[in-house]
Amino acid sequence: MNSGAIGIFDSGVGGLKILGAAVKRLRGEDFIYVFDRSHSPYGNRSDRYVRRRTEKVSELLLSKGAKVVVAACNTATGVGITYLRRKFGAPFVGVEPPVKPAALARTHGKILVLTTCRTAEQANFHRLLEKWDDGNVIVAPQPSLARDVELNFAALSKLKPVVDDILAPYDGEDIESVVLGCTHYYYLADMISAHYGGSARVFDAVDGVTHRIETVLDENDLRSETGKGRVKYIYL
Ligand code: DGL
Repeated sequence: MNSGAIGIFDSGVGGLKILGAAVKRLRGEDFIYVFDRSHSPYGNRSDRYVRRRTEKVSELLLSKGAKVVVAACNTATGVGITYLRRKFGAPFVGVEPPVKPAALARTHGKILVLTTCRTAEQANFHRLLEKWDDGNVIVAPQPSLARDVELNFAALSKLKPVVDDILAPYDGEDIESVVLGCTHYYYLADMISAHYGGSARVFDAVDGVTHRIETVLDENDLRSETGKGRVKYIYL
């Protein structure tokens, strides 16, 4: 038992879907969510910069009593999670592009993976591809899509033409599924699905990560029963 909060961070709004699912699933817990917005987008920064930010934010969450830290960001996870685990010796949960479930579900077509530029370069992402790409995965790094979501969060429908432009070059490729390899892109799932007239399945990692948080709490005997689903938001 541990009544500390579950700390979750992202460069901005990307991790909010994971937060929402965690609040729903993990009754009896409280949460702290950090928007590291003044340092976003992570996906266009150097590895060194992102690692430094993930370290600072994790330090902050742990100093506020977080019992587990969730990097609700593929870029932060790819660049920093190994370092963070080693440095803090605390439980960390990360998020990676859900290539595995998409590969397991594939029946005929291609899997289009959308990521930030930084994520596409990470060794752990390449390992994931080595394992699950049998020649049917297309990786499409996006230099500005996370920022577009962050800046248009109150009017996401404006991004429909942006999304269509991003997907158009792959229209001849028999896209069976699209993997959202950045948590900011989760908000675009419906638009992406609409681009394919509903024929492509869209994968995010919300359920997988929420389930993983639960497992990590159980494995480390960190569950609380006294929390009330409260969320404290911190803006950096
Ligand atoms: N939401 C993050 C991710 O999953 C980072 C987006 C960004 O700041 O570039 O990669």
